[in-house]
Amino acid sequence: MSKKNFVFVALFLFMSVGLYAQKWEHVADAPQMGWSTWNKFQGNINENVIVGIADAMVTSGLRDAGYVYINIDDCWHGNRDADGFIQADAKKFPHGMKWLSDYVHSKGLKLGIYSDCGTQTCAGMPGSLGHEYQDALQYARWGIDYLKEDWCNTINVNAKGAYQLMSDALRAAGRPIFHSMCEWGDNKPWKWARDIGHSWRVGPDIWCSFDSLRVFPTYVQYSVMDCIHKNDTLSEYAGRGHWNDPDMLECGNGMTVSEDRAHFTMWCMMASPLILGNDIRNMSQDTKAIITNKEMIAVNQDSLGVQAWHYSSDQGLEFWFKPLANGDWAMTVLNPTKNTVKYDLKWQNFNITDTQVSKKSTDFDKIIYKVRNLWTHKMEGKTMLKSKKCRTLTVPSHDVVAYRLIR
Ligand code: GLA
Repeated sequence: MSKKNFVFVALFLFMSVGLYAQKWEHVADAPQMGWSTWNKFQGNINENVIVGIADAMVTSGLRDAGYVYINIDDCWHGNRDADGFIQADAKKFPHGMKWLSDYVHSKGLKLGIYSDCGTQTCAGMPGSLGHEYQDALQYARWGIDYLKEDWCNTINVNAKGAYQLMSDALRAAGRPIFHSMCEWGDNKPWKWARDIGHSWRVGPDIWCSFDSLRVFPTYVQYSVMDCIHKNDTLSEYAGRGHWNDPDMLECGNGMTVSEDRAHFTMWCMMASPLILGNDIRNMSQDTKAIITNKEMIAVNQDSLGVQAWHYSSDQGLEFWFKPLANGDWAMTVLNPTKNTVKYDLKWQNFNITDTQVSKKSTDFDKIIYKVRNLWTHKMEGKTMLKSKKCRTLTVPSHDVVAYRLIR
């Protein structure tokens, strides 16, 4: 090879590696948005469901609102072949996973899949333990874009080591794949996982309830409020590329419209993954309006990447704040009580600074913000430098008032 050719080849390789690294790096710039089979369908899944959901993602406008991942959760698996490569269940997925990912990609969407760090998944399907590199290679060959990796059947497995192993395997397989770690917060992944995967579950599974903990003999399921309060302690650990995951959305699965709105608002405020869990082929106008609220989604996807924190409580209401990249703030007043609460709000009581991440301050004594209601989509006047008069808020039970304070 001539010296000149050598320089070209070296430059090409250098740029390819750079581009590849860049793609990996940007996989989780904002919290992931998509849909998953689990909350609505559990194990009752097949190719028709996925194709129907992919079609509905486009026709309902969800894709254009930002929801791109279609994630197949537990129970897609067949057996491993003679060489140990995992196969899809041929009855449920007769055309195979490569065909399905081609279909999903043709719609401008991405395909996710599910595995487990242990010997078996939570539903007893083959886990990845001892097959990490083979599984990652198979997913890459199939054109998979997202892996949720669960934590069942992991006796004597070290969590950090197990997730690092799969992370290495995914990188070696060569296809950028979002790595969603799901070990339920057992080993405090927020302390060690930020450079391993892209998001980590912070607690047990959610179920479709606003505020009732569901207790089984060996495990619990969290309500929306349980998820919020668990995640509330962890805001300092979230940021671009690594997100706390309080679990998937239950909007449209049976809570009231107020509860769905509060649930969705809080996931947006907390920069949480927005993974829908309802049957989007067949949803009410109310559900659709909630999950496609673009102003609310913009709060979730904001490039500053700060998770809101619960600043104070008063009269049973919770006051949450999230600084945004352009100097605006998102503010939510959440009412977890059983009654409507009327509240006289004085801006000066909320002169706060994000000391942990962005160092930004609300500075209500110096800055006048325009107040945008993120659910009525109307302007509601301005903040005041010296609040002599209070703004009276009416916050219905299990609902929110959510504002964007615009500079
Ligand atoms: C665990 C996970 C859930 C779901 C099921 C599937 O419980 O936390 O989100 O993936 O397994 O079996």
